[in-house]
Amino acid sequence: MRLRFTILVFIYCCVSLSSKAQYYDDPQQHQCLKCHSNQTYTFHNDLMDTEEKRLMNPYFVLDTVALKNGVHKVFDCVDCHSYEYTTYPHAANLKLEPMATCLDCHGGDESFASYQFERIQEETQKSIHHQVYGDNFTCSKCHSQHTYAATARNSSNVLEIVQYSNNMCLSCHNNMSKYNLVAGHENPQLVQIHNWLPNQELHFSHVRCIECHTEVVDSLMVSHNILPKEKALRKCVECHTADSRLKASLYKYQNLQKRSDDGTISTVISNESYVIGTHQVPFLKVLSVIIFILTLVGIIIHGIFRILKK
Ligand code: HEC
Ligand code: HEC
Ligand code: HEC
Ligand code: HEC
Ligand code: HEC
Ligand code: HEC
Ligand code: HEC
Repeated sequence: MRLRFTILVFIYCCVSLSSKAQYYDDPQQHQCLKCHSNQTYTFHNDLMDTEEKRLMNPYFVLDTVALKNGVHKVFDCVDCHSYEYTTYPHAANLKLEPMATCLDCHGGDESFASYQFERIQEETQKSIHHQVYGDNFTCSKCHSQHTYAATARNSSNVLEIVQYSNNMCLSCHNNMSKYNLVAGHENPQLVQIHNWLPNQELHFSHVRCIECHTEVVDSLMVSHNILPKEKALRKCVECHTADSRLKASLYKYQNLQKRSDDGTISTVISNESYVIGTHQVPFLKVLSVIIFILTLVGIIIHGIFRILKK
């Protein structure tokens, strides 16, 4: 029994030593993605001397298109991750490796000043997530360092901005496993919680979650202070008026202004047909003026004839 155990340990050591020596060639990124962009991966089992095909943990599969569009596309995998990952099986202690946070790299860096990383961190620390989970609720809970793209800042398509932003929230709030990982219990059902909102699907594709769930801060591109649910926005008129709150949040982006000029956005916010009593249709407006003038003319003519008759 003990002999068999010793032999197994010996074999294990040999395997791990020999596999340590087996580095993948450049380019690193390509090598990593051979395994980390597919649902399955293959590797050589040195112990059995066989090629093996296994299922990849779906959470470890990276989206290669999103990687190429991300802000960190110039990085190699091993710029952020240990070079030891170039061996497979990966060494167990790599799980303990501390990873750099956004502020580690971006904090105090002049070239990224326009993003106001420090201010964002301050706001994030006031948010409900931070109040409940403290520093465990890292920036990476919402922002993947692999794929993040500054969409609100760069896109000129409202729907794209909304979808990108909302997916960051939904990737957790609509994913039982991810939510459970943070909270330790199941996620409340968003559809039921927002039952009071008509056309829920339409709203969720036209406004961001953060429009209703953050305090709007003018000086920041994207408000990061997620308020407790009691403070969430419920009043329809906050958005459905000409002086919509969306002007200070979703529709404030310079990159959208061009569209705003050609009227696409202003029709959305000043579409007052949703607010009773402010309904205005240009054709009817002109018609009513014409009727008014015709009536006036009628009265005047009528008056003139009456005076002439006298
Ligand atoms: C032969 C396939 C293969 C290659 C090549 C590969 N990996 Fe992995 N990697 C895996 C598998 C499978 C896992 C799941 C955990 C395990 O089996 O060790 C994993 C897990 C990981 C993890 C998550 C560890 C954790 O537990 O949180 C990271 C990070 C990682 N790999 C980075 C890399 C990097 C960086 C490279 C390239 C330098 C790379 N991998 C190359 C197969 C591979
Ligand atoms: C800009 C830094 C950065 C680069 C570049 C990077 N990673 Fe990561 N990676 C991270 C961070 C940070 C985490 C931990 C995320 C977290 O805390 O949830 C991580 C986690 C992972 C994981 C674990 C699963 C997950 O998403 O949490 C895998 C697998 C992985 N990276 C593979 C890769 C591969 C393959 C590449 C190259 C294509 C790569 N990474 C490039 C920063 C980076
Ligand atoms: C390992 C260091 C590192 C980490 C960690 C890191 N970044 Fe970066 N980031 C960089 C570098 C370097 C660039 C510039 C890349 C280039 O020149 O293309 C960059 C670019 C960016 C840009 C685009 C800047 C521009 O104007 O082009 C944004 C936005 C950004 N990062 C956000 C983040 C966020 C959010 C996080 C955390 C989730 C993060 N970064 C984590 C190093 C890092
Ligand atoms: C609760 C989720 C969440 C957390 C946590 C979070 N962010 Fe964000 N962040 C967002 C969303 C949503 C956006 C808008 C995405 C977009 O369209 O660019 C954003 C945008 C950004 C931007 C781009 C703003 C711009 O000016 O273009 C930066 C930079 C950023 N976040 C940094 C951080 C940093 C640093 C942290 C941690 C201190 C953090 N975020 C934590 C959700 C989050
Ligand atoms: C039109 C405004 C509005 C939009 C858009 C909106 N919410 Fe809400 N949300 C609310 C209000 C108001 C409440 C409070 C409901 C209550 O307490 O009955 C709420 C409650 C919540 C809660 C609290 C759940 C609980 O524990 O009871 C979560 C989580 C939440 N919303 C997430 C989201 C996410 C994620 C999105 C984006 C997909 C989103 N919301 C979009 C207004 C909105
Ligand atoms: C990684 C997971 C994760 C992500 C990403 C995430 N959340 Fe949450 N969120 C949680 C958890 C867990 C809670 C429950 C906190 C608690 O127990 O009170 C929560 C709570 C909330 C609440 C309810 C607060 C209350 O008073 O109960 C709102 C609103 C909310 N999140 C909005 C958002 C928005 C908006 C985004 C995207 C910008 C987002 N969340 C992204 C995990 C997440
Ligand atoms: C955060 C801002 C916001 C809030 C709060 C909000 N809405 Fe909306 N609503 C929108 C936007 C944006 C649209 C999409 C407009 C468009 O493109 O047609 C929309 C669309 C609608 C539509 C659909 C109109 C159509 O064309 O089919 C109705 C009805 C509506 N909202 C009613 C309400 C009611 C009732 C409330 C309050 C319970 C409410 N909304 C709260 C922003 C908001």
